[in-house]
Amino acid sequence: MSRKLFVTTALPYANAPFHIGHMMEYIQADIWVRFMRMRGHQVAFVSADDAHGAPIMIAAEKAGKTPQQFVGEIAADRQRYLDGYYLDFDHWHSTDSAENVELSQSIYRSLKANDLITTRDVEQFFDPVKNMFLPDRYIKGECPVCHAKDQYGDSCEVCGSVYSPVELIRPFSALTGATPVLKSSEHFFFKLSDPRCASFLKAWTAGLSTTSGVSRLQSEVRNKASEWLLGKPDADGNLDPKGGLADWDISRDEPYFGIPIPDAPGKYFYVWLDAPVGYLASLKSYFTSGKAAADGQTQTFDEYLADEGVEQVHFIGKDIIYFHTLFWPAMLRFSGRKTPDAINVHGFITLSGGEKMSKSRGTGLSPLRYLELGMNPEWLRYYIAAKLNARIEDVEFNPEDFTARVNSDLIGKYVNIASRAAGFIAKHFDGRLYGDADVARDGFASELRDESREIAHAIESREFGKAIRLVMELADATNGFFDMAKPWLLAKSTDPADRLHLHRVCTQTLECFRVLTIYLKPILPQLAREAEAFLGLPPQQWSDIDIPLAPGAAVHPYKHLMARVDPKMLEALFESAPGLATPAPEPLAAAPAIEPIAETITIDDFNTIDLRIARIVSAEMVVGSTKLLRLTLDIGERDGAGAVVTRNVFSGIQSAYAPEQLSGKMTVMVANLAPRKMKFGVSEGMVLAASAVDEKAAPGLYVLEPHEGAVPGMRVR
Ligand code: MSP
Ligand code: ZN
Repeated sequence: MSRKLFVTTALPYANAPFHIGHMMEYIQADIWVRFMRMRGHQVAFVSADDAHGAPIMIAAEKAGKTPQQFVGEIAADRQRYLDGYYLDFDHWHSTDSAENVELSQSIYRSLKANDLITTRDVEQFFDPVKNMFLPDRYIKGECPVCHAKDQYGDSCEVCGSVYSPVELIRPFSALTGATPVLKSSEHFFFKLSDPRCASFLKAWTAGLSTTSGVSRLQSEVRNKASEWLLGKPDADGNLDPKGGLADWDISRDEPYFGIPIPDAPGKYFYVWLDAPVGYLASLKSYFTSGKAAADGQTQTFDEYLADEGVEQVHFIGKDIIYFHTLFWPAMLRFSGRKTPDAINVHGFITLSGGEKMSKSRGTGLSPLRYLELGMNPEWLRYYIAAKLNARIEDVEFNPEDFTARVNSDLIGKYVNIASRAAGFIAKHFDGRLYGDADVARDGFASELRDESREIAHAIESREFGKAIRLVMELADATNGFFDMAKPWLLAKSTDPADRLHLHRVCTQTLECFRVLTIYLKPILPQLAREAEAFLGLPPQQWSDIDIPLAPGAAVHPYKHLMARVDPKMLEALFESAPGLATPAPEPLAAAPAIEPIAETITIDDFNTIDLRIARIVSAEMVVGSTKLLRLTLDIGERDGAGAVVTRNVFSGIQSAYAPEQLSGKMTVMVANLAPRKMKFGVSEGMVLAASAVDEKAAPGLYVLEPHEGAVPGMRVR
């Protein structure tokens, strides 16, 4: 029976080009979609840019652009990646679209009519310079737990604690450096604490898809969701009676780049409210643009959306489970819509050595550079598929492993089958297959066809690694079958029986190659196209597995189907990420605990920090502070008349230095740090000092001092 599938990938923030994590998600979804299409199912595969939110608004402003311009430029760059990696989306849209405004507001109105919206005053940090409420990420300060400096308002990157921005010690606005003030404003909430929501979500997260009969959620995801819904059991197994869902704050005050809340001037939907609605907006635009009809869809958007037979499947990463298993189904349900049938969650792709590829920072494997270096996108599709399963495990990109799997398995085992058999067919048999139908049909290849159900099941259940393992076993077996006949000896024989045998073996081997090609086609669409052309076949569907090569058919002369990975390419790919392939050194026994090394940055990231040699003109105590020294620094800046312009810096080093120890010394300062208003005045930078994480275990602060010869103003790089 043919299924109708509405499939999406998470909508990427439109603040940066795609990184390898996005590519991994799209490759996973694309393989699944291509497989479903080969099975004869009808798929609408859509995505969109997630355009709204404060970070994008702020980034646009920094770039001197309107948010629309800013996200437009990012959007214009998407197609290169999608085409480059054979990602077969039917439509790519934006959450900053008329369809999304209409759908988001309509969902909100339904929730409100259902008495699931409430308002409450919320006190939040407000930047008095910028005149706006600050998102947690734009408030920084000292961690209230470990006292690490310069931590974000929601969590500490040093000790991992999670807290509210008001708990930060000496908070400041990351936008202006100003000290934020608490200010109250009315916020809109989605009443997830309503018993209707909890009881719906308990059933929904534990349930089966109504269309496919399979669990909507992976077991790990189901467990997480039930922990969120019920609260976490304590050591005795008792649940916190306060556990469960809190109301969800869905509004933000202007200025905000987002969708206005109906009948609420100055209020906008929080980006995560309209982001998933973007799935529907993209689908709508796919239909109303006429593209869906051109792809054979006969329904209208409204008919399709209401169709109980349509399965809604979302592919997402593990960091956004909460939004997709709680907020999103509840939004849909209580606005009277169908809920998703499956949320397919994947882990993160990491670089070998365990470095995390984060979304906000640069990553070590640029998908665009990969293409520019002439690397074959299907190598990556194959490699990622080989590493993926249906669980939420991280996938490590390891260059040696990548090379080995592509060169030894994909090319050595599978691609070479074609070249080995085709050579004899061309040379000895006029490019034609054996003339009897039973040869391709009943020969060795039937054993390969027998595996089709198991391979199909593996792909459908997203066990791609398993599918590839099965296919490679079959490729091994095919090579064994071919070698056992010793075709190179048969080719030299003058006995006609040997020649017939050679012809049969080569025909059967090419039929094996055909079957393997169909198995790999969802993963390697371009290679499959070329293999089909070589065998003179129309585009193969999954059901074609059972239709063997025609007797006596002509095959085209073999052209090499895929080049090998040159390890030099990988070196070039990672040039900008030094140390990638270097294994982490063995930890020294009983070495003192050091702070974990921060995430990898690029040289460009580093260059944004302007470090200068500074002369400490004077250092003095700060009246009223037990921590700070006031430093007057010369970093070579001069005014129009050539007079020294000094910087005033407050530094928390009073516990380690007396002022007279520092006066006249050289040090290093961060010269382009946003000035920061402090109780005692404005601090115009920061001097560098070393310290241990745990100040109690290893007390001490050590101000940096350059070797002799460095003069004020020199850049440190
Ligand atoms: N805009 C939100 C999603 C809204 S969906 C209605 C978002 N965007 S994102 O650009 O940060 O991430 C998009 C997708 O990429 C998410 O599914 C995320 O999990 C995935 N990945 C981001 N980094 C990743 C890796 N390193 N590895 C694999 N996927 C990762 O979140
Ligand atoms: Zn901390």
